[in-house]
Amino acid sequence: MKELILKTELHSFTSCRGFAEAFAVGADDLVLTIRPLYEKYFMPLSIPFKVLFIEDFGLGEPTDVMADAMIDEAEKTGFRRLIAAGGGSVIDIAKIIAASGGRHTDELYAAPSEIRRSKGLVILPATCGTGSEVTNISILNRTRLGTKMGLVSDELFADAAVLIPELLEELPYEAFAASSADALIHAVESALSPKATSFTKLLSYKAIEIIISNYAVIAAKGRESRIGMLASFLAAANYAGLAFGTAGCAAVHALSYPLGGKYHVPHGESNYAVFTGVMKNYIEIKKDGEMEVMMGFIAALTGSKPSDAWDSLDALLGRLLPKKTLRGYGVREDELEEFADSVIERQQRLMANSFVPLDRSRVLKIYRELY
Ligand SMILES: [Fe+2]
Repeated sequence: MKELILKTELHSFTSCRGFAEAFAVGADDLVLTIRPLYEKYFMPLSIPFKVLFIEDFGLGEPTDVMADAMIDEAEKTGFRRLIAAGGGSVIDIAKIIAASGGRHTDELYAAPSEIRRSKGLVILPATCGTGSEVTNISILNRTRLGTKMGLVSDELFADAAVLIPELLEELPYEAFAASSADALIHAVESALSPKATSFTKLLSYKAIEIIISNYAVIAAKGRESRIGMLASFLAAANYAGLAFGTAGCAAVHALSYPLGGKYHVPHGESNYAVFTGVMKNYIEIKKDGEMEVMMGFIAALTGSKPSDAWDSLDALLGRLLPKKTLRGYGVREDELEEFADSVIERQQRLMANSFVPLDRSRVLKIYRELY
């Protein structure tokens, strides 16, 4: 049994400058980022590295089309190490570029076992959500299939993950809220996964504690209070990333992918839209075991009764980020069957980690309740 997979070195710095010196960033490096981060944190370093901006290839969640174009551009630079500074989109595409060997995404998805990464890969997360800096998965919208799918290979583990809280200072509030909700969901799903271990649960529950208690402060003191807590949110997202890197995410992620893939809802937000709906269906089937532990833990943090844990968490989350219905995202009622089919056909990698098995009729019921 895998207790905890640790493949990536963890580092932290108070500034980008400190990182660049310690990692001897130079001309052989290709930095993949977005312009605002480049202009504020990298340009002042006056280092002659190569740079690619993700927004030059497309906006929103990463697609196979964007990744293929970026693989071609990156290959032309002759880089030896890729340094990715950004959110989930930047990180997911960086993993693919570094491991592609110049091949395109359809080819990589067709035979993940043949992937061999020959370039260095260092990841600097600039959101506090994905935990992707320590996982072996990259999620792209496969536009030809109309859904998001994960590409999994140990070759996608970065050599180093570097936590630098200043990179989150310019993150807009809504992106901060959605990404930290994603981290909370990673922590909850991995703790409830049948693959959870005492090691992963240590990380999951610590992440839940940090995120919920910080949320309570933000709900009381206002949005700007988050700035003083960025280092702890960044650490919590990393703990959750390590936890789900071993124990896996589950039905919340699976049900969110058709919504994200078809309606281009950002990852954290689409997860948030289905999160407690999935949890409330789990407890209709089974309330004991790890669910009982989880609900007691959340109730203690939110000051509610264990039986009200999901409602009280819903109420707290709603004060930070209003939750929309599926209808609110433009989903048509007749698409819910199609969404349920997509989950059952394409997301078994995730569904296998659900707290209890959810069949097609249950998945459809959840979508209908959230409609
Ligand atoms: Fe996620």
